[in-house]
Amino acid sequence: MTLLTVQELAKSYMSHGRNVTALDGVSFTLTEGQTLGLAGASGSGKSTLARLLLRLLAADGGEVCFAGEDWLALSGSRLRQRRRSMQMVFQDVLAAFNPRATVASVLDDPLRIHGIVDRAGRPREIATLLERVGLPASYAVRSIRELSGGQRQRVAIARALAPRPSLIVLDEAVSALDASIRRRILELLVELQRERGIAYLFVSHDLAVLKAVSHRIAVMHEGRIVETGPADAVIDNPQSMAAKALVAAVPRLVAGQNSKPATDNP
Ligand SMILES: Nc1ncnc2c1ncn2[C@@H]1O[C@H](COP(=O)(O)OP(=O)(O)OP(=O)(O)O)[C@@H](O)[C@H]1O
Ligand SMILES: [Mg+2]
Repeated sequence: MTLLTVQELAKSYMSHGRNVTALDGVSFTLTEGQTLGLAGASGSGKSTLARLLLRLLAADGGEVCFAGEDWLALSGSRLRQRRRSMQMVFQDVLAAFNPRATVASVLDDPLRIHGIVDRAGRPREIATLLERVGLPASYAVRSIRELSGGQRQRVAIARALAPRPSLIVLDEAVSALDASIRRRILELLVELQRERGIAYLFVSHDLAVLKAVSHRIAVMHEGRIVETGPADAVIDNPQSMAAKALVAAVPRLVAGQNSKPATDNP
């Protein structure tokens, strides 16, 4: 079933007296429990799209239907209530969380705000979340700045899981990690999707990353989606100039040496 339908989403910024078009009529759909990889060169509008979906930024025009609701029309207590269903993971965890906050408090917030488990049950739930993302429960007492980059990203994933969302938007969530840690985090995300049926909108400029997780890939160029298709088709037989340029930027994709096609990985 379709979880998310985006139609003609538009957004411009005013910058130094000039109007910069960041999104110019973006439309796509995302199926429940699947991953749409969103590719595109720097400045093509990927983060703007992510921020609009998360309601961190207002759209100039267009429509979003999420879980059957007119998502951009939600406000006040209904928006607060529904927000638990769409969570996010950003690249820069230190900027997203207070670096001095403990891991426990970072995970406790969404559990409390969204009333997921009662107060007495929260320490147990926090331990379960940490273990699920591959961190010892004893890390609950550490502060965010005392963690490695990979560990921080695991905490960010645990925080996104805490309210039991149906969609997680990941904006360059693994881009700052080195290759082996990146691979393990991608494996964790794929496992979590299988287990819980969560859909991902996975933003990355790196097609090799998208190939490992995506069912479908959409390619953005100058605020528009210029190509969409099954992940293999976009990577093996790109049609647009923008997709061809992204494929050419990852030599091992061109050589066809990448391990496992995303379609084997539902
Ligand atoms: N706050 C802002 N004010 C003015 N212009 C902005 C702002 N944020 C983004 N832009 C512009 O909007 C366009 C899209 O930016 P966006 O950050 O969405 O791109 P992106 O695809 O996420 O790029 P990257 O891969 O570098 O993260 C760019 O031209 C950018 O300069
Ligand atoms: Mg970005």
